[in-house]
Amino acid sequence: MSQYQAVKGTRDIFPEEATQWKYVEAIVHTLASLYGFSEIRIPIFEYTELFQRGIGSTTDIVGKEMFSFQPDPKGRSLTLRPEMTAGVMRATLQKNLLSSAPVHKLYYIGELFRKERPQAGRQRQFSQFGAELIGVSSPAAVSEVITLMMHVFESLGVTGLKLRINTLGDTADRARYREALQAYFAPFHEILDDASKERLEKNPLRILDSKNPALEELVAGAPRLYDYLNDSSLRDFEKVCFYLAERNIAYHIDHRLVRGLDYYSHTAFEVTSSELGAQDAIGGGGRYDGLARELGNSSDVPASGFAAGMERLLITMEKQGLFAALQPFGPLVYIVVQQQDLTDHALQIAWRLRKGGIKTEIDLATRSMKAQMREANRIRASYALFIGTAEYATGNYTLKNLATSEQKTLSLDAVLQILHEPAAKKLLDL
Ligand code: HAM
Repeated sequence: MSQYQAVKGTRDIFPEEATQWKYVEAIVHTLASLYGFSEIRIPIFEYTELFQRGIGSTTDIVGKEMFSFQPDPKGRSLTLRPEMTAGVMRATLQKNLLSSAPVHKLYYIGELFRKERPQAGRQRQFSQFGAELIGVSSPAAVSEVITLMMHVFESLGVTGLKLRINTLGDTADRARYREALQAYFAPFHEILDDASKERLEKNPLRILDSKNPALEELVAGAPRLYDYLNDSSLRDFEKVCFYLAERNIAYHIDHRLVRGLDYYSHTAFEVTSSELGAQDAIGGGGRYDGLARELGNSSDVPASGFAAGMERLLITMEKQGLFAALQPFGPLVYIVVQQQDLTDHALQIAWRLRKGGIKTEIDLATRSMKAQMREANRIRASYALFIGTAEYATGNYTLKNLATSEQKTLSLDAVLQILHEPAAKKLLDL
C-alpha cells in the first residue's frame, strides 16, 4: 500500500473504464469528422494573461479557480488551461490560419484544470471534448456546433438532456443592459455580497450568475437582457431557434442563462443532464466574436463553439446503462502451457498469433495448468490453446471453445484461419 493517494479532485481511470472512454472518444472523432471538423491539440499550459484577457478577470474561473505558477522568479506567470477556447483562438491567430482559408473548424478532446471544490461531477482535473468554428459567425454556424454536440449525445444513446439557449446580444445591447442592471442593483448595494458588489462595478452581468441563495429573489427580479436587444440581434436569435426546430432539436429559451465565461455574444447555450446532481451541466458554449480582439487581434474574428464534460457524460451514460453492451474487441485466446519447459515455445506461438492479429494472453508467472485455466476464465477468454509435449512434437495444437467446451486439434495456420473467419468460427459453435 502506497502512502500516497491521488490528489483530491483528480482520479484514476482503470482499464474497464478506459474502454468506456475510448468508446466515447471514438464517437467524438467520427462525428466531428462527419461535420468537417479537424482535430487540434494545444499545450496544457499557457501564459496566465491569455485566460485573464480571454475568459474575463471577473469570472470565477479567472478569479479563483486557476492553477497558476511562475517557473522562474523573473518569468511570466503560467496557468494550466482551465478551458480550451482561448487556447484554440490563440493558436489560430498565432498561426494566422485565417489567411489560408476563411473558416476553420477545429475539435479537441483534452484535460482541463480548475481549482474548484471537488464534489460529485466536479473535479480539479477533468476532460472535455469540444469544437470551435472560427472565421464565420451566423445563426447557421452556431446551429452547426449545437447540432454536432447534440448528435454526439444522441449517437451515444443519452436521454434526459435539456438544452437551454439564450442570446446575449451584441456589444451595444449589452452596454445598454449593463447600465440597466447597475441602476437596478444600485439601491440594494447594502444587501449585495462582496463578490456582487465588485461585479456591480466591473461586470454586473456576472451578478445574474450568483449562486448566493440570499440574492435569489433580487436576481430573479432583475431586468432581462432580452428586452434590450436590437432588431438584428433578435432576428439572429430567432434564426438559431428556427434551425434547431428544423432539426428536431428540443430547446428551452432561458433568459437568465449567462454562462461562466465573459467572451460570449449573441447565442449562448447549456445542456443539463437529469442524471447529475448539483453539477448538472454536461456541455455548453456559444458565439464569441470578440475573443480574438480581447487577445490583441486588430479586429473581431467571428466564432462559435461548445465543450462538453467527459466525466459528466460518462456518469450519465453509466447511470443509463449505456455501457452494458460494450465488448472488448475480438475473441481472446489464452495459451495454456502444460509444463514449464514449453514456455519458450508457447511464447513463440503467442507472438505468431499476435502477429496474425489475434488477441492472445499467456501466463508469465509459470502457474499450474489449473491456475492457468482459472485465469483464462477470469479474463473471459473465448478460447484456450493447449501446448503440451504432443503439440510441441506434432505442431498441432488443441483449441478449445471455452463457452461450449468443444475442442479441435489443428495446425497453427488452421487455428489462425478459424479465429479470423466468422464462418469458420461457427465450427467451434461460437
Ligand atoms: P464550460 O461551461 O466552462 O465551458 O465547460 C463545459 C463543460 O465542461 C461543462 O458543461 C461541464 O460538463 C464540464 N466541466 C466544467 N468544469 C468542470 C469540472 N470542474 N469538473 C468536471 N467537469 C467540468 C467551456 O469550457 C467553454 N470553453 C465552452 C465553449 C467552447 N464555448 C465556446 N466554445
